[in-house]
Amino acid sequence: MSTIGEVIKCKAAVAWEPNKPVVIEEIEVAPPQENEVRIKIVATSVCHSDLYHLFEYMHPEGFPTVLGHEAAGIVESVGPGVTEFQPGDKVIPVFLGQCRECRFCKSPKTNQCELAWTRVSDVILASVESRFTCKGKKVLQFMGTSTFSEYTVVHQSAVTKIDPAAPLEKVCILGCGLCTGYGAAVNVAKVEPGSTCAVFGLGAVGLAAVMGCKDAGATRIIAVDINSEKAEKAKVFGATEFVNPKDHNKPINQVLVEMTNGGVDYSLECVGKVEVMRSALESCIKAWGISVIVGWTDVYNVTVKPLSLLCGRTWKGCMFGGFKSKDGVAQMVKAYLEKKLMVDEFITHNMTLDQINDAIGLMKDCKCIRTVITLSPQ
Ligand SMILES: NC(=O)c1ccc[n+]([C@@H]2O[C@H](COP(=O)([O-])OP(=O)(O)OC[C@H]3O[C@@H](n4cnc5c(N)ncnc54)[C@H](O)[C@@H]3O)[C@@H](O)[C@H]2O)c1
Ligand SMILES: [Zn+2]
Ligand SMILES: [Zn+2]
Repeated sequence: MSTIGEVIKCKAAVAWEPNKPVVIEEIEVAPPQENEVRIKIVATSVCHSDLYHLFEYMHPEGFPTVLGHEAAGIVESVGPGVTEFQPGDKVIPVFLGQCRECRFCKSPKTNQCELAWTRVSDVILASVESRFTCKGKKVLQFMGTSTFSEYTVVHQSAVTKIDPAAPLEKVCILGCGLCTGYGAAVNVAKVEPGSTCAVFGLGAVGLAAVMGCKDAGATRIIAVDINSEKAEKAKVFGATEFVNPKDHNKPINQVLVEMTNGGVDYSLECVGKVEVMRSALESCIKAWGISVIVGWTDVYNVTVKPLSLLCGRTWKGCMFGGFKSKDGVAQMVKAYLEKKLMVDEFITHNMTLDQINDAIGLMKDCKCIRTVITLSPQ
């Protein structure tokens, strides 16, 4: 029976308030409006940014919400004005849109999109408008995506059509973490062949950054994490060494500077802690070292001595690995299908939506890389 034009009732994991388990509820998903696409989510995974909103940022106005922004699905229906998609298309939603028309989208210098930022408020990390209701209340759509739901509605500028041959329960993780880390190394740090790199934090984002450094031709890739269980996995993606800051009685930046005769050429912070951002910067060699902030936090400020930059280091940050999101996702899916990119190796657990709190717990306890939640088997 066609659901086009109807309100769909389906299951979703609602985060009613910060710092509490999410609750599986029946929600109503309104039909897509102008320039919107309604998607049946097939598979979604948990990224640390979901946990950040729930346990770290905890902005009360950002609730109730449906978290989730790393997913793949099938278009169920489209709203007026949508010409790029049709029901049945395989797609990946993206938290950072690419409208292709604003001055940022038209510039090769950035992957930011002005339209995306007018749609998603950086305080509540959602649009003020939502197509979701539950028990008579409006429920926000986290990052404009809300993929911990059987159905969601996304603006067409934040959806990528992908090759129909792509297995959705694998490529869902290209919706955030993998592109973010890989692109940070390749597009933003612009790692050069023969260089030395350090990657701080070995979740999916950091491991993808390790893989990006390797593909860019780095010869020394030092993986840094406070959890030594991550060492083996880092080697799979190309790390040549592993360092646990807890094994040293001096600051980690000093350890790295000593290991590399003055500092690494490139460092990538994939943790989201301000003290690690500073260590990553100070691990870089004076004169030409480049450090990229990838980890996400809006709670604390980061301070550095101006001399750390005056001596010639460059400090950058990026969202979504600097990829223009729609183009980047399609390109990464293609690379995976051509067996040029590891994806399956990041998936350590598979679960169902009913187990979403277990999946969140695994990430909180640092016991997974990516858990894929299958909502609707293909
Ligand atoms: N910039 C973006 O567009 C973007 C996109 C996605 C995720 N993120 C952010 O990237 C970060 C990583 O995400 P993830 O999903 O890989 O998270 P994750 O929780 O799976 O991984 C984080 C890793 O950092 C390690 N860690 C914690 N403290 C550390 C320290 N002091 N030194 C070294 N390692 C430490 C943990 O042991 C863990 O292995 C998060 O902050 C997330 O919000 C940013
Ligand atoms: Zn734009
Ligand atoms: Zn993410």
